[in-house]
Amino acid sequence: MSDRPQKDVADLSEDEARLELERLAAAIAAADIAYHQNDAPEISDAEYDALKRRNDAIEEAFPGLVRADSPTGRVGAAPAEGFAKVRHGVPMLSLAKAYTDQDVVDFIERGQRFFQRDEGLELAFTAEPKIDGLSASLRYENGVFVQGATRGDGSVGEDITANLRTIKDIPEKLAGSGWPEVIEIRGEVYMTYAEFQALKERSAAIGGQDYVNPRNTAAGSLRQKDPTITASRNLKFFAYAWGLASSEPATSQYEAVQKFAEWGFAVSPLMVRAKSAEDLIAHYRTIEAQRSSLGYDIDGVVYKVDSIELQKRWGYVTGEPRWAIAHKFPAERATTTLRGIDIQVGRTGTLAPVARLDPVSVGGVTVVNVTLHNEDYIAGRDSNGLPIREGKDIRIGDSVVIQRAGDVIPQIVDVLIDKRPAGAEPYRMPETCPVCGSPATREINPKTGKEDSRRRCTGELVCAAQAVENLKHFVSRGALDIEGLGAENIELFFAKGLVRNAADIFTLRERRAAVQEALAERREEQARAREAASGKTRKNVRAVQDRNYEGLDKLFGAIDARREPELDRFIFALGIRHIGETTAAALARTFGTMEELMRVGKEVAAAEDPMAAFPSIDGIGSTVVEALVDFFGNERNDDVLEALLVQVHPKPYVINISADSQVAGKTVVFTGSLEKMTRSEAKAMAERLGAKVAGSVSAKTDILVAGPGAGSKLKTAQEHGVEVISEDEWFARVGR
Ligand code: IVH
Repeated sequence: MSDRPQKDVADLSEDEARLELERLAAAIAAADIAYHQNDAPEISDAEYDALKRRNDAIEEAFPGLVRADSPTGRVGAAPAEGFAKVRHGVPMLSLAKAYTDQDVVDFIERGQRFFQRDEGLELAFTAEPKIDGLSASLRYENGVFVQGATRGDGSVGEDITANLRTIKDIPEKLAGSGWPEVIEIRGEVYMTYAEFQALKERSAAIGGQDYVNPRNTAAGSLRQKDPTITASRNLKFFAYAWGLASSEPATSQYEAVQKFAEWGFAVSPLMVRAKSAEDLIAHYRTIEAQRSSLGYDIDGVVYKVDSIELQKRWGYVTGEPRWAIAHKFPAERATTTLRGIDIQVGRTGTLAPVARLDPVSVGGVTVVNVTLHNEDYIAGRDSNGLPIREGKDIRIGDSVVIQRAGDVIPQIVDVLIDKRPAGAEPYRMPETCPVCGSPATREINPKTGKEDSRRRCTGELVCAAQAVENLKHFVSRGALDIEGLGAENIELFFAKGLVRNAADIFTLRERRAAVQEALAERREEQARAREAASGKTRKNVRAVQDRNYEGLDKLFGAIDARREPELDRFIFALGIRHIGETTAAALARTFGTMEELMRVGKEVAAAEDPMAAFPSIDGIGSTVVEALVDFFGNERNDDVLEALLVQVHPKPYVINISADSQVAGKTVVFTGSLEKMTRSEAKAMAERLGAKVAGSVSAKTDILVAGPGAGSKLKTAQEHGVEVISEDEWFARVGR
């Protein structure tokens, strides 16, 4: 997972986000079962934490998509802040999907069965392109546009009236006549390829942000606080439906859309009426054939029952009309040439092969590289020569088919062996690290006895790539979280020799002049690059530089602010293999101080049987103990840690052990599923606070800490009048 380049959350489409949340929920649930129930973790803590963080970030960006079985349990989150909320007069629905011709035939047959008693009834449908944009609802009162909103969660959207007013396809006043007094016109806001390309070029010229695809850019443009920015994006709109209406605008979908056109809206010129599955599918093929020349993204064809009366009779199921279906186009594919394979070295030394491609446009996005995962994937065989499921035998020079399924991360789905250039050799993964030259080996997993699919550089701290990645990790969000010291600055300071290890970060202030020079040099370079791209001369460079010099004090301040980090963050920041945030927190709770963790770490590293020498902590198994042994057994790490601890003083993990501890001398029982600590951590904590932990509830019990799903113990406690508190209340009471 961590080896796959991930899209920024801000760049995800709603469909991508939905798909990813679905996958994340499944992956996190599977990891939970492996860890808690089977006691056999299948992924490292870091990977687990990364999954959770990604899930959090996507949920935050798409509150409407939070799943009922969300790993955060944050169901029903509110829409994003910023714009006023608008309740739609009639909900904005989604559409059922058809992927095959048979799905379409089934849809028509369902309709025929539903209406079969109506002898002689002829079921007619419309077929129109499914525009890949954002739906919007536009309220007109007496023919005047009064309010426009996003779809939001379908019931409540956001008021983006001012931004919608900038779209030329949306009339301020309806033309013609015969419109209902009140009507919500619905349709799709989208951006043409030409407009998208122009924006990208304008942005590149000023060194601005990159834009991923027209749909996300249209979404971003609609959510601008300043409507003049929206106006500059030249968005388009097609009207295709209506919501609330004081009177029906038409008796059929086809006529309604004709009326929308008369009233001044842009409507799709590709809508037809048809009666059979055959005719609908024929129109689907016609539209599909035109897809690449339309100049904007469409992702399928929508079929709707034409008669409004029959639509009403056929009705709805959970958020979708029964009377309509979206016949999706297959994932977009494109063929290109694989020019080379680059190797990226990760924080733990993993060699990640990435294919360098001739740039190719797949569904409106230019793809220049794709991950190749590992050498088995490239070879199409595992280390024993056995074919592997996803493997492809990929060679440099090959023609490869790239797919973006449901818009997600592009991947190679096929290699065109017929087109393979003569003499193309099977790819061989380097056996030395391309960055530091140390041997790169495939480890044997002691549990399975199998070779790991990934090759790792053994250079550790000698390897510049690993060192830089470790530094980036050290300052990252879950770790020391140093504001203003992101990946870019770390790379710069490393390259200039200003920061070689974590301790150096804290002495940067002493090298102020050199830091200033490094930053200035980079700004010069960037300015030159921008100039070259735009052909314009430099006016504002000086002003920007002055601002950034002030930024330097801010940066040093942010570094100083982290000189006393929480112990769990500090342990996590060290980047010890297999120690993610959860494990780091368990270690902090167990050992209390860094000194104690180091003492035990050293002791265990020197022990004959490390597993036996390590205290038993719930959730910490042999993988983590071995990682600790590797880390604390490596003398080079001693020097690094020693230097670091001169600069940084992690706060001891204090639990309030004072005699007046609210739980000292009390008998405590834990029940239900605890969410913030494991059962044995809970026990250890309570005991350190002077409490006695019992396994069952009796009249002698003082406190029952009950998590979700508490059963008979809770009942017994209530019968005995025992005080019952939640896990959060427990933490409050013990001062955590
Ligand atoms: S009709 C009750 N027609 O697709 C049906 N939707 O998956 C309401 N869309 O949220 C939608 N083109 O954003 C309809 N010609 C079209 C469409 C279309 C694109 C989008 C719309 C909707 C989504 C449903």
